[in-house]
Amino acid sequence: MSTHIGAKPGEIAERILLPGDPLRAKYIANTFLEGSVCYNEVRGMFGYTGRYKGVPVSVQGTGMGVPSISIYVHELLADYGVKTLIRVGTCGAIRPEVRVRDVILAMSASTTSAPNRLRFGHVQYAPTANFDLLRTAHEIAREKGTSIHVGSVMTTDLFYADGTADLERWAKFGMLAVEMESAELFTLAAQFGARALSILTVSDHVLTGEETSAEERERSFREMVEIALETAIR
Ligand code: ADE
Repeated sequence: MSTHIGAKPGEIAERILLPGDPLRAKYIANTFLEGSVCYNEVRGMFGYTGRYKGVPVSVQGTGMGVPSISIYVHELLADYGVKTLIRVGTCGAIRPEVRVRDVILAMSASTTSAPNRLRFGHVQYAPTANFDLLRTAHEIAREKGTSIHVGSVMTTDLFYADGTADLERWAKFGMLAVEMESAELFTLAAQFGARALSILTVSDHVLTGEETSAEERERSFREMVEIALETAIR
């Protein structure tokens, strides 16, 4: 096992979905994967491997925020040789054309978080999704008729922001939404020569205060997971 993941070598597939919530990992494994087996229960951060349409796929909870996803994704890349990583998460919209329940494919992720300052000093690194995954996910979403946006997001460390001035400035510069993990996922994937993408459902509109109902969240979550699984195996 690695420091935080209790799997033996070979128990984690090369293709992996990454929800923040470990109970969502369990739900995805039980609902979408055939023959899924739990490989991790350490700290309740569940991880499963099964098959989707015959192809081995894993799903691992990452927790919330950059430090948490950094630990899990680093170990998946360094210790288990994972190659294709797709975050399936939620985000808060900050532009008017983005509605709750829409799906966002994050092409790039700016960040308020510290790791890239530690890695690069004064240089401002641009965490970017893998183009092939992005193109494939876009094709699949269009085929399914999903309301989709492609663009940049902000990976923030503060869920409870103090006022909206920062959010309005980020929106003015084209960012579609705020979330809390993608910049670190894209950076680590680049470091280890792997492919990463973030697919995000809009759970709330930060500037209008609109929120999705539990039923709406469930439906857009299913759509997002189907897009992610089809992308992972294509
Ligand atoms: N994820 C979902 N909604 C969010 C928000 N408003 N801020 C940061 N991350 C989020």
